[in-house]
Amino acid sequence: MRAMAYDGYGSDDVLTLRELPDPKVGPGEVRIRVRRAGVNPADWKIMSGGLDALLDAVFPVVPGWDVAGTVEAIGIDTPEFEIGDEVVAYAKKDVLHGGTFAELVTMSVRGVARKPAALGWDEAGGLPLAGLTALQTLDRLGVSASDTVLVHGGAGGVGTLAVQIARARGAQVIATASPANHAFLSELGATPVAYGEGGVERIRALAPDGADVVADFVGGVREVTTAVLATGGRHASIADPTVLQAGGSWFWARPSAQGLAELGRIADAGHLRVPVAEVLPLEELPAAFKRSREGHTRGKLVIAVAD
Ligand SMILES: NC(=O)c1ccc[n+]([C@@H]2O[C@H](COP(=O)([O-])OP(=O)(O)OC[C@H]3O[C@@H](n4cnc5c(N)ncnc54)[C@H](OP(=O)(O)O)[C@@H]3O)[C@@H](O)[C@H]2O)c1
Repeated sequence: MRAMAYDGYGSDDVLTLRELPDPKVGPGEVRIRVRRAGVNPADWKIMSGGLDALLDAVFPVVPGWDVAGTVEAIGIDTPEFEIGDEVVAYAKKDVLHGGTFAELVTMSVRGVARKPAALGWDEAGGLPLAGLTALQTLDRLGVSASDTVLVHGGAGGVGTLAVQIARARGAQVIATASPANHAFLSELGATPVAYGEGGVERIRALAPDGADVVADFVGGVREVTTAVLATGGRHASIADPTVLQAGGSWFWARPSAQGLAELGRIADAGHLRVPVAEVLPLEELPAAFKRSREGHTRGKLVIAVAD
């Protein structure tokens, strides 16, 4: 199979397009023919060696944890799926090796769900990791209709989905972004607010009693969080471990077929779309990583592996 892979940690120049053996498929697994694979900051952070203390790597490593595609082989005793099923998966594995920037990826069915009918392939490719992160963070924080929720990083991959899921639950949502993304966030149902100097005052003006919930999808904003949190409010970050010292949760998303199915139900009910900033071909993965690293993607970057 064709795949983008690297033989050791480094920057974008370690990535090359190459032929690798097709991944094997074992009991309880499906092999997916990849159509689209979403890009996540984790991909290039891991490639730089930044998560080496947390993950064993078997080189060559094919990066990528998001996939939307078609089941093309099923393992022994895997009744959950049939060949030809259209699926999505958050393909994080215990060992860093066979990722989704490849023509084929094998996954345990624990992390695979049917592709939401309402989403096209580009959108489906960007859904799994960011969608599960948004959903599980809001679940952890117990977000409901009675909450005013502040989302830090409302225009990013995770933030755009969290805004919509919180709105679907009936919560009031205030979301931070640069002014260029404010009209976009209003369309998603949030009240936008600019981050940076004066941010606390602007948020306080919108939520005089404070935010019941703060979800940080950016990092480096703990002081804003604690300054705008209502008394007894709940908060979590996916990008800043120091929130633990301020009574918050440091959250890490987990693969979950049930979570993906729930995202599918929200999408099929018309309450969730995946804003796609750009779709690039497999061989342009280094350019996609470069763009992701710049930190201002609106929604998701997606790699097209096959039509
Ligand atoms: N723990 C986990 O399980 C987990 C899961 C997924 C992601 N993450 C981490 O969470 C972070 C976000 O991931 P992502 O995929 O959403 O990234 P992303 O799509 O690359 O985020 C880009 C967005 O961040 C916004 N942004 C940049 N600086 C900001 C600031 N100071 N305040 C508010 N918004 C700001 C940008 O909006 P503007 O252009 O308007 O500035 C842009 O829309 C990354 O660090 C990622 O590694 C962790």
